Amino acid sequence: MVRKLAIDDVDKNLFPGKRVFVRVDFNVPVSDGRVVDDYRIKKALPTLHYLMDAGARLVLASHLGRPKGRRVEALSLRPVAEHLSTLLGKDVAFAEDCIGEPAFGVVESLRDGDVALLENLRFHSGEKENDPRFVEELGKLADIYVNDAFGTAHRKHASVYGLPLLFEERFAGLLMKREIEYLGRVRENPDHPFVSIIGGAKVKDKMGVLERLASVSDRLLIGGAMAYTFLRALGRGVGSSLVDEEGIDFAEDFLGRYGEKVVLPEDHVVSDGNTTEVVFGDIPDGFAGYDIGPSTIELFKSSVNGARMVFWNGPLGMFEKEDFSRGTFEIARFLAGYKDAERILGGGDTVSAIHAAGLKDDEFDHVSTGGGATLEFISGKELPAISVLKDL
Ligand code: 3PG
Repeated sequence: MVRKLAIDDVDKNLFPGKRVFVRVDFNVPVSDGRVVDDYRIKKALPTLHYLMDAGARLVLASHLGRPKGRRVEALSLRPVAEHLSTLLGKDVAFAEDCIGEPAFGVVESLRDGDVALLENLRFHSGEKENDPRFVEELGKLADIYVNDAFGTAHRKHASVYGLPLLFEERFAGLLMKREIEYLGRVRENPDHPFVSIIGGAKVKDKMGVLERLASVSDRLLIGGAMAYTFLRALGRGVGSSLVDEEGIDFAEDFLGRYGEKVVLPEDHVVSDGNTTEVVFGDIPDGFAGYDIGPSTIELFKSSVNGARMVFWNGPLGMFEKEDFSRGTFEIARFLAGYKDAERILGGGDTVSAIHAAGLKDDEFDHVSTGGGATLEFISGKELPAISVLKDL
């Protein structure tokens, strides 16, 4: 199991008066200058409170969107600073640039326990390129480095990869530590019976995850559009459902190896564009599947029953549309109420789905803040930003 030295593993006396660079993942939806979903920001709060209480001077840095190395006003982190200020009940100083005078000025004005947020790191191409000069500029702003940006851990970018290596004192934040612990157990050492539920559209994007989960799961439930690729590989009728042509060979081979563990949908909510109905078995021509049907919902629930650990990634249908949301929402609510198992959820779409179902993160044991990072971690990869942190 990967274990990294975190801020609560070291003497708290290390922090008073020190400038601590905290790389957070505040890549959140912002619209008309307002934060639309603050889930990721809230998940970083334990780390921020810990360091503020310890008397550190916090220099927060993040990316927002993909501005391609230039300043894009709509991707400014200023609204995030304002939102964070409300969440912390304290002023958050905002630096108009993440390096140079604007950053220095703000960092110099910090007192113990204060917080500043730097402007979007990706306004500089040096971030994505892991440019040593950009790394050096960022390095001048702090004495200690903390990475709490699990969602960005699969990127080899300056603030998560080059920068930490400048610091003898580099630590994982509390969110990073929690993500590594929970997702590490999922991929390496789950409690059994262990049931995985995988949805989403493309098999191709999740091959590594499917492989890893199949090797450690007792049952693997497949829903979402990717189920049609698996059903097609079995020679079943899928009508005009979305099929990932590039994933068919993989699906066939995968079912040959893990077929006994795999549970596929047996009925579907289908539509021809006008009529929406439930069909059992093969989907007729002219119709496409958009959600698991009611029998499959029961089949999935009974497949989860008895589990001691459950991992879920990817919606089970096109939940954004009410007609096709029932499968995802019912399974989400069922898992929220199924307290016999540790329930670990991952991935951007899965988080949106549980929120759309009216559920909160704390109704589950762990809801990962990563999208791509979660998938890469689960598939067994060593993520660059984690690899440069120190082992515990
Ligand atoms: C994410 O939202 O998955 C992370 O913040 C990483 O963003 P990126 O895919 O633009 O690197």
